[in-house]
Amino acid sequence: MADASHPEDQLGTAVLAALGRVIDPEIRRPVTELDMIRGVDVQPGGSVRVDLQLTIVGCPAADTIERDVRAAAGSVAGVAAVDVDVSVMDPAVRRALTERLREGRPKGVQFTPDSLTRVIAVTSGKGGVGKSTVTANLAVALARRGQRVGIVDVDVHGFSIPGLMGLTDANGVAPRPTRVDSMILPPVAHDVKVVSIGMFVDDVSTAVSWRGPMLHRTVNQFLSDVWFGDLDVLLLDMPPGTGDVAISVGQLLPHAEVLVVTTPQAAAADVAERSGIVARQTGQRVIGVVENMAGLVQPDGSVLHLFGEGGGDETARRLSRGQDVPVPVLGRVPLSVPLRAGGDAGLPVVLGDPADAAAVALDAVADRLTAMGRGLAGRKLGLSLS
Ligand SMILES: Nc1ncnc2c1ncn2[C@@H]1O[C@H](COP(=O)(O)OP(=O)(O)OP(=O)(O)O)[C@@H](O)[C@H]1O
Ligand SMILES: [Mg+2]
Repeated sequence: MADASHPEDQLGTAVLAALGRVIDPEIRRPVTELDMIRGVDVQPGGSVRVDLQLTIVGCPAADTIERDVRAAAGSVAGVAAVDVDVSVMDPAVRRALTERLREGRPKGVQFTPDSLTRVIAVTSGKGGVGKSTVTANLAVALARRGQRVGIVDVDVHGFSIPGLMGLTDANGVAPRPTRVDSMILPPVAHDVKVVSIGMFVDDVSTAVSWRGPMLHRTVNQFLSDVWFGDLDVLLLDMPPGTGDVAISVGQLLPHAEVLVVTTPQAAAADVAERSGIVARQTGQRVIGVVENMAGLVQPDGSVLHLFGEGGGDETARRLSRGQDVPVPVLGRVPLSVPLRAGGDAGLPVVLGDPADAAAVALDAVADRLTAMGRGLAGRKLGLSLS
């Protein structure tokens, strides 16, 4: 306990309070709650030494944390100089920390049906209809509404989330997440925690040859070992169609809600419907359809329906069959150059150009999802495929 009668102790207490405002950028908790501050030593005259211990050697956030610790301590009135002594936690301390972060949860998929996290899988029948773009934008839009959001990119063969979220470097390479023992810390982009298979493969061709069991293990690991902390919403960017990954996700997350993305092309409704049906067979509930690549507004104000019309309504109508609650069309996102450019630049259009018509439509979908809440009505009980 600090003895308030000694000025050094008072200063030490003030420095510790200031350090409580330094947030570990990956774990997103104050460093003081993560056993990262081993001690604060105040010398007469106001020079302060902070004993900082990082979770692992080569922690990519090390520079940021050290800088923030230095700045926080230096900002306290009466501190004349700050010296930060950086070391690495010993394994026992680290193990205790990871245990504490897991809050005693058993190992295994974190998002069990009784967890408070809403899980939404974004699927489609066909490829290239805009699932990943919709996922990235909805994630950012929900995070802007103050929700704690994560994305798991399970499109093993065609991952694109790191690029869309601005996490790739100039060579298109995604960062490798920090590992603390068996715990994987997802990088954060635009306030969203992101994990993607693209962060784990050195050579894209390795994953391309993966078959069912390997895919299942990978998806399982994402949902088990990646530490998301408490999330309000987890979005899954699915590969197109009804393959192995869709079935694995269905088995691992039978309580997930499913958002189906389709184009306005009426013929697309056939395949879109199929992805909804596979989801439902595992117990998941289709909560809505997003029609993407809807009409393109011309400079003269007229609308060019490049991909036809009616695909969203038709998909919703078909998916409503056999469901207690009709499946709504949650939004129609027009073709948009800013949306495409935002994707290429890693700045989702809802952030980069919020007045764009596509951004407005995606924001409206985020509002509708939020308003729906995590309704239990109409949910079927999980059926196992085995
Ligand atoms: N509304 C839109 N306006 C213009 N371009 C769009 C729109 N939606 C998506 N795109 C573009 O279409 C391409 C495909 O989008 P995206 O990668 O999101 O689709 P996907 O369904 O995830 O594809 P895949 O099946 O390969 O995973 C991207 O280049 C994206 O920028
Ligand atoms: Mg995609």
